[in-house]
Amino acid sequence: MILKDKITYIRAHLNLTQEELAKEMGVSFATINRWETGKNNPTKKTQQQLDTFCSQHNIILPDEKVLRVFEGFAGYGGGSFALKRVQNLHPNFKYDVVGYSEIDKYACELYDANHRDASGRLITNFGDITKIDPTSPSFPDFDIFMGGFPCQPFSTAGMQKGEDDPYGRGTLFQHIIRICAVKKPRYILMENVKGLLSKKFDATRALMIKLLREIGYVKDKNNPNESPIAYAVLNSKDYGIPQNRERVWMFARLGGLPDNFSVEPPQRKNDLKMADFLDPEGYVPKEMYLSKKQIDHLKVKHNIPSFKVDTPLCLDIYNKKIKYDGYSITITLPEHNSLRVIEAHKNREVVRKMSVTEQFRLMGLEGLKGVGRKVDIDFNGQSYTQLSRRAGNGWDVNLVTILLEYILNQLQNLDFDLFDF
Ligand SMILES: C[S@@+](CC[C@H](N)C(=O)[O-])C[C@H]1O[C@@H](n2cnc3c(N)ncnc32)[C@H](O)[C@@H]1O
Repeated sequence: MILKDKITYIRAHLNLTQEELAKEMGVSFATINRWETGKNNPTKKTQQQLDTFCSQHNIILPDEKVLRVFEGFAGYGGGSFALKRVQNLHPNFKYDVVGYSEIDKYACELYDANHRDASGRLITNFGDITKIDPTSPSFPDFDIFMGGFPCQPFSTAGMQKGEDDPYGRGTLFQHIIRICAVKKPRYILMENVKGLLSKKFDATRALMIKLLREIGYVKDKNNPNESPIAYAVLNSKDYGIPQNRERVWMFARLGGLPDNFSVEPPQRKNDLKMADFLDPEGYVPKEMYLSKKQIDHLKVKHNIPSFKVDTPLCLDIYNKKIKYDGYSITITLPEHNSLRVIEAHKNREVVRKMSVTEQFRLMGLEGLKGVGRKVDIDFNGQSYTQLSRRAGNGWDVNLVTILLEYILNQLQNLDFDLFDF
């Protein structure tokens, strides 16, 4: 699309006059007028300015390449949050979430409060993945399936029954395969707990590989040595968020992965510690704090002589240890939560639960500047328990942003028909 048509399209999309668009973009009316009447050839800077403006307003120009995304097991939409960030970093990159699948009422409400498709509309929730009919005309096509299938069956915090999980959660990945066998998205990105890599689940992983091979996610179906999956265990603390959170990430590409493809971005360590992610003084809700009696009980039970610390630290009550490395232990579902924060005070011992804003910051959501303890997510007025469930189950948005950037960078020359980067 040439510059003058772009301006006309953008104005029509946002229903703005030339004057109003000039104001929105921070340029003069004369500039917009020159652009739209074709009197000026676009400079590189003009193009960049327009691309940034379009991505900020989620405008997809008609001839642009758009990566269509389906977000399975969506939770709070860690994938969608990360895609937004990738787009901010790469204004040429355009995506559209064409549908999601989630069964938890509160997760759906949180997702809807925070995410929209490229035209600003609510994204359709296709509900229970086991009930999705991928051949239905109302089920959209997409280029990437992304989803972290429920991890309880593989987690050390659960019974580790894997595919034999009594609630059927261990076979949910087979529904990813069932859907992708019909839709044939170019990419599949999956996530799970590290436990999935244990010997106990060798057969589950072998089945995943077999099924992905059968539906075409390899170069050569008959080559038993070619794995359709690139995988890596990534820890949030190695990518800038001070939470010890290890997850396995798996990626497959229709037709096979290019040689040397990797899902392990170079680490981005920094000096930030859990203390840097805590709410400012006075913002932590009162109900987070343990009473003196509870603190004394913890001391005896865990054989910890004192909770007086010089800098805020994490207490792991499951392992009965103070984490002197300054990192937070893994944020989990509230029913498994053994994470406590020890505040640093000269003459007092203060131990408390972690607030939701702290949990979400440690899940890679950024702080909103100038508004105290808030993070950049609409909590939709939900309860501590519900929000903690989302955080405990969620994707680290910071890590997923880094991972998606890394993956798309490696594929941009190969799959230039699908997206610009
Ligand atoms: C590990 S969490 C995924 C978290 C998500 N990636 C995020 O960033 O928040 C798994 C999610 O799958 C959902 N789920 C479980 N069974 C499902 C099913 N049959 N169909 C769709 N979603 C399901 C759960 O409610 C849970 O929110």
